[in-house]
Amino acid sequence: MTLHSQNGHDIWLQNKKAKPVNVTTSKQSSTIDIAKNELINGWQGPEGATIALTIKKDKSLHKDGFKITSTSIQANTDLGILYGVYDLLRRQQTETSIKDETINPSYDRRILNHWDNPNGSIERGYAGKSLFWHYGKDSLAVTESDIKLWKEYARINASVGINGAVLNNVNASPMMLTQGYLEKVKAIADVLRPYGVKTYISIKFSSPSLIGGLKTSDPLDADVIKWWNNKVKDIYKLIPDFGGFLVKASSEGQPGPQDYGRTHADGANMLADAFKPFNGIVMWRAFVYSANDEDRAKQAYNEFINLDGKFRDNVIIQVKNGPIDFQPREPFSPLFGALKKTAIMPELQITQEYLGHSIHLAYLAPMWKEFLDSDTYQEGKGSTVAKTTDGSLFDQKISAIAGVANTGLDNNWTGHTFAQSNWYAFGRLAWNHELSSEQIADEWVKLTFSPFDLSNSENKADFSKSDWSNNFLKPVKQMMLDSREAIVDYMMPLGLHHIFSANEHYGPGPWYGPARARKDWTSLYYHKADSLGIGFDRTPTGSNATIQYEEPLRSQLNNIETCPENVLLWFHHVPWDYKMKNGKTLWDNLAYRYDAGVKKVREFQKIWDMSKPYVDSKRFDEVQSKLRNQSRNAQVWKDACLLYFQEFSNIPIPYDIERPMHDLEDLKISTMKRPLDYK
Ligand code: GCU
Repeated sequence: MTLHSQNGHDIWLQNKKAKPVNVTTSKQSSTIDIAKNELINGWQGPEGATIALTIKKDKSLHKDGFKITSTSIQANTDLGILYGVYDLLRRQQTETSIKDETINPSYDRRILNHWDNPNGSIERGYAGKSLFWHYGKDSLAVTESDIKLWKEYARINASVGINGAVLNNVNASPMMLTQGYLEKVKAIADVLRPYGVKTYISIKFSSPSLIGGLKTSDPLDADVIKWWNNKVKDIYKLIPDFGGFLVKASSEGQPGPQDYGRTHADGANMLADAFKPFNGIVMWRAFVYSANDEDRAKQAYNEFINLDGKFRDNVIIQVKNGPIDFQPREPFSPLFGALKKTAIMPELQITQEYLGHSIHLAYLAPMWKEFLDSDTYQEGKGSTVAKTTDGSLFDQKISAIAGVANTGLDNNWTGHTFAQSNWYAFGRLAWNHELSSEQIADEWVKLTFSPFDLSNSENKADFSKSDWSNNFLKPVKQMMLDSREAIVDYMMPLGLHHIFSANEHYGPGPWYGPARARKDWTSLYYHKADSLGIGFDRTPTGSNATIQYEEPLRSQLNNIETCPENVLLWFHHVPWDYKMKNGKTLWDNLAYRYDAGVKKVREFQKIWDMSKPYVDSKRFDEVQSKLRNQSRNAQVWKDACLLYFQEFSNIPIPYDIERPMHDLEDLKISTMKRPLDYK
């Protein structure tokens, strides 16, 4: 068997030869047609089987949930049928058993946030230009190839249960609300609709004054209210099932209600009222912090906690997983579980802004699971982040989760083949947050790389299925499962955070702290290394950010002996010679972790090189080359951080680990300008 060269465009929906199947349906619609065709084109079960797709009201089914057997799918909605079909096909392709099961989604709204700009660029995008917006004089034209691509995009999303897309950057252009752009949103919505993907847009809060000709954008001003009401009405004329707005306001220089002396609730509620007649929602971001003396990690909580209960029921607060900003490891944001009378949705970042862009191999499900499974203790033991957001602990009208997308016009959608696994994992976890990282990786590797066609008994592979499973599936899966921790180790172990070189968020810059820069945008602010030790004291002797966590977690974090070591330097300023649980000093542990991260990537290179017989050459070469780059960059991270921090610790790097290969002064010059080896 030859392994066809793959450009990765088919993602986890590899086209396999189908066996014949009969499909009966109790209803017809464009969504049901898609479901039927997917079965006909992808059936890998018994030849000639008959599958019944039935729409029937059933109280045990929630929203687009479904009941599945090996020969039937039943749902309340057409979309439920479609999700059931993808589930059935996935089980066939991954050779997973199909029992009689009732399957309901964890979150009602499972949304991708695209940080795409009208000129086609993507903020923190590493996979080419925007799928939706183009630059130039025909930028608003809709071509056949656009439609084809959007349809593929919608299908990919539906196959993992993603049912919403915010089409533009949170740093929104006011242009998005002008007629031409809204018509393009309509064109996109028309293509995404049959696949169940609702459209949303990000808006700029000052749009009434910027494009509406009003003197103010004060949310309590009667003309402003009228302007938004009319705008929302116009949108629904074009797009009757429009999802709603995502709003970044009074944040990082974006305009917001606070510019007019109003609160976040005033701003969000004004928009929510405009959406009320149409069942639309407002996703209001809690990513707010200012250049003041308060610890940045505390600010979002302080801003929102007093507004609990003051938001309309069609507002949901979108909160990043951690209190700072999508770092390789953060503790969960203390807002989870603390807002009890306000719906709140996690915002995850699928695009690898802080995890090596589309160069480093990072499978992010373990990071997201760590977050979702974190115990907030807000309603007693077991109040996990997942439960505080999915509607099971608090009475909330909307439940949702969002991921900042990693897609672009690159052939393989995500830049790095393995970054596809994060799109996949986000969808799967949004649908079922109880799935394990291991199961998701297992599914993804099988769907993406398995060369075996279950419908074809004459597969003439040069290797058997068990060879494939032992020599490819197992090691590659393990590499994925280890990959995020490897990055934490060679970038910022033990709770270090935000020590990147300026702007790019790629290479190391622990020394970054120009005198004129905003303090909370420098690395020095976050690591606070000095001759005594390193780390940010967030206990009562420091910023007291720990007060925002519920007991017993608060006390556990406050005590250096009980604080989990993987977030130790997030919460404590720790002496260089502090003895850690393994009996070694903090300095030695730091050095060993950096070294372990680098070694891990070298191991990934071996695993991948050994997988050569099992992968088509195109994807093999691409990943091989990226791993080489990652290895070099991991070494840069280790050298930069250890040599820099050593200037404070004044302790030798343990003699049993590999020596640095770079000089600190060279690294300072090169990584300040642009990331080393970035391509
Ligand atoms: C990060 C990111 C910005 C983005 C911001 C946000 O700070 O670097 O590019 O705009 O998050 O989430 O709003």
